[in-house]
Amino acid sequence: MNRRLIAGNWKMNKTPQESIDFIDAFLGKLGDIRDVEVLLIPPYTSLESSGRRLAGSSIGLGAQDLFYEPSGAYTAAISASMLAACGCRHVLVGHSERRHLFGDDDATVGRKLVSALDGGLTPILCIGETLDERRAGAMETVLGSQLDGGLDGVDADAIERVVMAYEPVWAIGTGETATPQQAQEAVAWVRAWLSQRYGVSVAKRLRILYGGSVKPGNATDLVTQPDIDGALVGGASLDPDAFAAIVEAAR
Ligand code: PGA
Repeated sequence: MNRRLIAGNWKMNKTPQESIDFIDAFLGKLGDIRDVEVLLIPPYTSLESSGRRLAGSSIGLGAQDLFYEPSGAYTAAISASMLAACGCRHVLVGHSERRHLFGDDDATVGRKLVSALDGGLTPILCIGETLDERRAGAMETVLGSQLDGGLDGVDADAIERVVMAYEPVWAIGTGETATPQQAQEAVAWVRAWLSQRYGVSVAKRLRILYGGSVKPGNATDLVTQPDIDGALVGGASLDPDAFAAIVEAAR
């Protein structure tokens, strides 16, 4: 079994001080965790101070997005090396909010993913279908094209450094969770796609997270599905008690 990964994506929440307060409370509850990998993904403005506070702990630091150019005249953009210098080891690419609110298409997501790898970061590639797409029976087509674009140019060696996250858009921030069976089915489909592209043994080792309204009460059922290796948590990761309970559930 792959080591489970629980990541908390804070989105546009928490000032640097609020981030530190969270970390102090969270570390106090959790202690030293090694059996599950835990990752906090604060907004850019909290990365450096959070990274300092997390130093020496078992909790990793990730960023919510990056730009694919290494440096230059790209106002408001942040590069892989800037994130690494703040202590990040992971970065989300292709989160549905970036795709739907900020216009990241599959090709852009693919370029971001490659630049994350080039910069020594572990990209977490987020994919997922909308409710309309699911109702129209287009889930596999949508996931397939997000995988194709997001992993364009990623070979069998590089894929080992990628984490996948299946997040049905209709379950993000809506309180509506995919049932464990729906989540398992979609994640198994993603793993089969990866097996075809990269081979069965590589695909087995890749971690695929589920995301979308994961809470302390449903986390166990979701992360114990055979193909699900952890969770990408939004809303419930803002509260140290709730997030610690999800990590406990994954243990
Ligand atoms: P949610 O967000 O847990 O608030 O649904 C999940 C995500 O967007 O990663």
